[in-house]
Amino acid sequence: CGIVGYTGNNDTVGVLMGGLKRLEYRGYDSAGIAVITDSGALDTRKKAGKLAVLSDDLNAHPLTAGNTGIGHTRWATHGGPTDVNAHPHLADDGRLALIHNGIIENFAPLKAELLEAGYTFESETDTEIVAVELGRAYREVGNLRDAFRAVVGRLEGTFTLLAVHSDEPGVVVAARHNSPLVVGLGDGENFLGSDVAAFVEHTHRAVAIGEDNIAVITPESVVVTDFAGNHVELEEFEIAWDATSADKGGWSSFMAKEIAEQPEAIANTLRGRIVDGIVEIPELAGLGADTLRDIDRIVIVACGTASYAASVARYAIEAWARVPVTVELSHEFRYSNPVLSERTLLISVSQSGETMDTLMAVKYGRDAGVKTLSVCNTQSATIPRESDGVIYTHAGPEVAVASTKAFIAQIVALYLFGLHLANVRGTLTAEELAELTEQLTGVPEQLAEVLEVTETVRTLAHWMADTRSVLFLGRHVGFPIALEGALKLKEISYIHAEGFAAGELKHGPIALIEPGQPVFVMVPSPRNSPVMHSKIVSNIQEIRARGARVIAIAEKGDAAVLPYADEVIPLPIAELFMQPLLTVVPLQLFALELSTAKGLDVDQPRNLAKSVTVE
Ligand code: G6P
Repeated sequence: CGIVGYTGNNDTVGVLMGGLKRLEYRGYDSAGIAVITDSGALDTRKKAGKLAVLSDDLNAHPLTAGNTGIGHTRWATHGGPTDVNAHPHLADDGRLALIHNGIIENFAPLKAELLEAGYTFESETDTEIVAVELGRAYREVGNLRDAFRAVVGRLEGTFTLLAVHSDEPGVVVAARHNSPLVVGLGDGENFLGSDVAAFVEHTHRAVAIGEDNIAVITPESVVVTDFAGNHVELEEFEIAWDATSADKGGWSSFMAKEIAEQPEAIANTLRGRIVDGIVEIPELAGLGADTLRDIDRIVIVACGTASYAASVARYAIEAWARVPVTVELSHEFRYSNPVLSERTLLISVSQSGETMDTLMAVKYGRDAGVKTLSVCNTQSATIPRESDGVIYTHAGPEVAVASTKAFIAQIVALYLFGLHLANVRGTLTAEELAELTEQLTGVPEQLAEVLEVTETVRTLAHWMADTRSVLFLGRHVGFPIALEGALKLKEISYIHAEGFAAGELKHGPIALIEPGQPVFVMVPSPRNSPVMHSKIVSNIQEIRARGARVIAIAEKGDAAVLPYADEVIPLPIAELFMQPLLTVVPLQLFALELSTAKGLDVDQPRNLAKSVTVE
């Protein structure tokens, strides 16, 4: 869910709604705000549906002005997306309002206790129980901060909580446990957000709130304590994102814009990190050369698209640094009783840096004594803060739920790490390193070239708008790309799609081929991998013979593919490990165009949230 809090003399409703707009990618099945009005009352508005529904409601019935408030966009866990279940939830006779991100796992016994004590509930949410608990504590202790301190210890699960009370105008109090929270520092105003996107429009100065802390903001002050009440020093940081980069800027969708931004995202991820053909990553200081020389295994944990980025990079890291790499889905890793040692390096990959499953995998690894490195796109997010080292992907804010530019940037960041590792371990010669870094430096230009296929892909997608099922085949680095192509289509076009290792075809999936079945095939370059190339050409013939409609994504000039493919989408000439960075682009565009052709919401597909901050 997305959370925003504000206190100051600006237009409070405007600040809250603007923040929620930027956080809408975190959840969009309902939204709400609560404001302490100038007359000292608490005014709340909440609606099921996207933020636009709340916005229309506010236009029709404006809220009374005020200078303190909180806002929330929801991704439902406990209780369906209805007006009543939307946040904020009220307590203390409508004088206290609370919003929540996370899950309160012990809500059932707490609720039973409150029912016993005569309290009643309007919603089915776990959050309302916390609101009522907080209201009860408020009546005993008389201020929000101490009420929070009395309540947080009773809560199990994960939470970021923000509350206001009409008896404390100008004050917003927040607490976090295993869920993100940042403060934005303004001049005569202060902000709270689940990430910096909530307030980047107003300030670039921020403070990340640590685990199990309580923050109290007023227009003039920010005070942070731990749950026991001990004072915590603030660590201020500067937000590197440009506020306008989180705007759609004339594009039809954020996804279209973010696909187009890929050359720049990669140029930014590489910037300053290759010096004289050698990778230099100063942020890796916590993982020195001795540590990296000593590791004997790498495990990469990630979910969704990030896990496919990891699967692409696995081939490269193994080839370059000669260290075994496995990729595990974060939620599977944690419950698999994994074999780890102090020589294992655990790498997490997460655009948001907040995915709960991945965070828990990192904590599991850390508790088991392994070194942890995170690849992340969001400054000061929880996962990098919990890791020994971080490589930030500088892709800029990614708003569309379906990840595109962050995916490519994750691969590039992992490649940089792989080259650094190879350098430290001496597994590549200086010439080989220089050659590979040069290939990487060329990627932004190749990405710009591959974007020229947009029109071709759009035409193809429009023809295929009624397609019910699409298959994707690839080998080696093309295999995770096939999986990612299928995932993109599922996510935003709601079409059944599957990716397969092309070699696996004969072992089962070929039974799915019937006349007219569309199959995308990732064709490796005949120059880089003649053997794999000829194998893929055979696979194409096999499915073609059974009536498949073959769409080949192949290096331009690859004559061997032409006779058998119904469509060929040409790629710029690229070396083996750079090719997946290009091959994925037509697949992203295909999903985007098909979703558009079907009239769907490209950026906010049904049932999905961009950062899943619950397990
Ligand atoms: C969610 C999103 C996916 C994303 C995954 C991992 O499931 O819908 O698009 O790939 O989370 O997100 P992360 O922020 O950890 O990269």
